[in-house]
Amino acid sequence: MPDLISRRRPAVPIAVKARVFRDRLEEEFKVTVARARRQFAATRGKLRQEAREARERLKSEIEQATADLKTGVARAAGRVKSTRHRLEGEARLTAAKMKLRVAKAKSKAKQAADKLEDEARFLRTWIESPLKTGAVSPSGPDLAREMARHVDPQMPGLVVELGPGTGPVTEALVARGVAEQRLVLIEYDSDFCRLLRERFPRATVLQGDAYAIAETLRGHVHDRIAAVVSSLPLMTKSPRERLGLLRQSLALLAERAPFVQFTYAAASPIPLREGGFYAEPGRRIWKNIPPARVWVYRQA
Ligand SMILES: C[S@@+](CC[C@H](N)C(=O)[O-])C[C@H]1O[C@@H](n2cnc3c(N)ncnc32)[C@H](O)[C@@H]1O
Repeated sequence: MPDLISRRRPAVPIAVKARVFRDRLEEEFKVTVARARRQFAATRGKLRQEAREARERLKSEIEQATADLKTGVARAAGRVKSTRHRLEGEARLTAAKMKLRVAKAKSKAKQAADKLEDEARFLRTWIESPLKTGAVSPSGPDLAREMARHVDPQMPGLVVELGPGTGPVTEALVARGVAEQRLVLIEYDSDFCRLLRERFPRATVLQGDAYAIAETLRGHVHDRIAAVVSSLPLMTKSPRERLGLLRQSLALLAERAPFVQFTYAAASPIPLREGGFYAEPGRRIWKNIPPARVWVYRQA
C-alpha cells in the first residue's frame, strides 16, 4: 500500500501549472505578435510599393496626356495659322483680282472716252478744214494694224509718219515693235501736235507740211529712213503734188524700204503711169469706216 502510494507522481501544484501555462501563452502571444508585425511590415511595404508604382503610372499618364494635349494644341494652332494664311492669301488674291478688274474697267472706260474725244476732235478739225483732215473720224484699229504691218521694226533708221492726227497708226507702229524714239511725226494741225506730244513723249513731233517732207525733215534725219507711213488725204491734192511727195520720200528711204499709204479710193492714190517705182495694193479693210485699202510703194 505504502508502495502504491509512493509510486504515484507527486501532485504538481496548481500555481506552477498556471505559471507554465501563462508562460506558454505569453510565448505564443509573442510569436503571434512578431508574425503579425512581420506580416504587417510586409503588407505595408507592398502597399507602399504599389502606391509608388501607381503614382509613377499616374505621373507618366499625366505627362503623356499633357504632351498629347500640347501636340494637339500645336497642331490646332498650326491648322488655324495655315487656314488664316490661306484665307489671307485668298483675300489678297481676290483683292488683287478686283483691283485688276477695276483697273481694266477704268482703262476700258478711259479708252472709250479717249476714242470718243478723238472722234469729236477729228470731226471738229474736219469741219474747220475738211480738205486737210480728209476723214470725219480716225482710222480704226484694223486699218492702223494693216498700215503698220508693212514696216519692218528690225530695219535700222527712223520711221516717218505723215498726218498722224490723233495717233491710231502711231499706236499700231509702237505695238508692232517700232521704238517710240525712232518715230518722227509730221502733222499740220497744232492741236493734233499737242496731243501727239502728250501721247508719244519720246517721239519727235514736227508741226509742218508733209508735202514738203525733205524740207520739213531737214536737220532731223541723217541716215536713210526705214519707212514712210502716210495717212495724208492725197486725193485732195493734184497728181503732180502726190507724185512729188512719193519721189521726195523714195529719195530719203533706204533701199527697198516702203512708202505706205492708205486710201478710200478704188485706185492707187499715186498715179502709176509715171513709173520708176513699184506699187503693191493690199486687201480692202472692210471693217474700217469707210472701208480703205493700203498701198505700198518702193523704189524700182
Ligand atoms: C485722214 S487724217 C488721218 C489721221 C490719222 N493718221 C488716222 O489714220 O486716223 C489726215 C491727217 O493728215 C493731216 N494733214 C493734212 N495735210 C497735211 C499736211 N500737208 N502736212 C501734215 N499733215 C497734214 C491732217 O491734219 C490729219 O491729221
